[in-house]
Amino acid sequence: MDTLLLMKRKFRSGLIRLSELPVLNSNIPSPADLHKAHVTAPAPELPALPESVCHYETIFIRDDGAILPCCNTWPEDRLVIGNIRDDNIPEKLRQFDQPCDICGKCRLKRADSQDAINFRHVIVETSKFCNIDCAMCGHFSPYHTRSGRYNREDLAYYYDRFLDLCPPKILSVLGGETLAQKHGLNWFKGVKKRYKDTYVELVTSGNVKPQIADAIEGCFDSILISFYGFQPETYRKVTNSPIDRVFEFSDLLIKQAREKVHLKYLTTPINFHESAVFLDWAIQKEPGWVVNHDCNTVYFLNMDLDTPYRINEAYPTHAKIPNNYWKQIIHRTVQDIIKTLERNRDLLESGRTKVAYADFLFKWGGLSQQLVDSYNLPNVTISKGTGC
Ligand SMILES: C[S@@+](CC[C@H](N)C(=O)[O-])C[C@H]1O[C@@H](n2cnc3c(N)ncnc32)[C@H](O)[C@@H]1O
Ligand code: SF4
Ligand code: SF4
Repeated sequence: MDTLLLMKRKFRSGLIRLSELPVLNSNIPSPADLHKAHVTAPAPELPALPESVCHYETIFIRDDGAILPCCNTWPEDRLVIGNIRDDNIPEKLRQFDQPCDICGKCRLKRADSQDAINFRHVIVETSKFCNIDCAMCGHFSPYHTRSGRYNREDLAYYYDRFLDLCPPKILSVLGGETLAQKHGLNWFKGVKKRYKDTYVELVTSGNVKPQIADAIEGCFDSILISFYGFQPETYRKVTNSPIDRVFEFSDLLIKQAREKVHLKYLTTPINFHESAVFLDWAIQKEPGWVVNHDCNTVYFLNMDLDTPYRINEAYPTHAKIPNNYWKQIIHRTVQDIIKTLERNRDLLESGRTKVAYADFLFKWGGLSQQLVDSYNLPNVTISKGTGC
């Protein structure tokens, strides 16, 4: 008899107790493994990092006009190179000499006389002001907004003056919520005309008035819309705002130019189980991309242990707490993701829409490029990390 069936029978007949049940999905490492590995592992011997004049390639312009060497460094005041209002920016870039290896991929070095500014990517945070209040906001926009620490100053003149130094290959515009900021809206209406060879991308929650869709037509090469839940109640809990406007706004943009729209789902602890439902809806809208990133969800979860249950002394009548809860939910969601991709195989094969999942959360349920490839699913990429 099949072992599982035998076990079920024994369990029903009382021959086996809950405490003797094996850990479910034991082949899938638990979030606890990740956490333990992270906190107890000795610092790995890193190979010497390659040196890079990062600030000649990428720049993050913060809401206060501060110039920083890349988007990983935005909260680090010691890495502020100068301000876009300064008159001697090329000199400040040339002189900038601060240690940095935050990304773990390279080490910042000072420019020397052979180096030339060649911006590949400039990111502009027009202001931290936002019209909604996401519980996980990684830029802490709701806090800045509540404390009044955001600027409404029109920095357009300075943004253009900075970009004129060397128009970048890619310009990303984000907030806070740029589409809810009048000065931001006014600025980027002219950006595409001024920097014709620059790829201009917008990141937005899409939780704005539908009229904005007309106002921004033609301003961007791509628009990434971030979803923070799919079922209305989930979205409302994460953002403190209804989801209706996001659906309406996405539909309007897709009607304008479907290939420019990227529909992104950010998984958080209370919405990740809806990822496959979002995926199903999003693929059928046929945008350029459907992506799934993660906000470090495993660090929010109450960690599983590698035993089938824990004892909660404070609650004697239901003292045994099963430890497989999160593993099961993640695992089931991954199964649903694969089923959804299979169901939409024809659309994926057409190549009009591509799908990209970051593996940071779902690898704990078995999601990997290998798994996707074993189902021969085309145009689906599983990347390492959170995707952010
Ligand atoms: C700070 S938001 C600003 C733009 C816009 N308000 C939005 O929400 O899309 C920029 C990007 O960061 C992502 N983000 C926000 N909080 C995050 C977090 N805690 N971890 C990872 N990404 C996060 C959002 O999904 C969004 O795509
Ligand atoms: S070393 Fe890494 S984190 Fe630091 S500025 Fe360069 S790319 Fe950014
Ligand atoms: S919409 Fe974007 S900026 Fe606003 S609170 Fe949410 S994540 Fe932060």
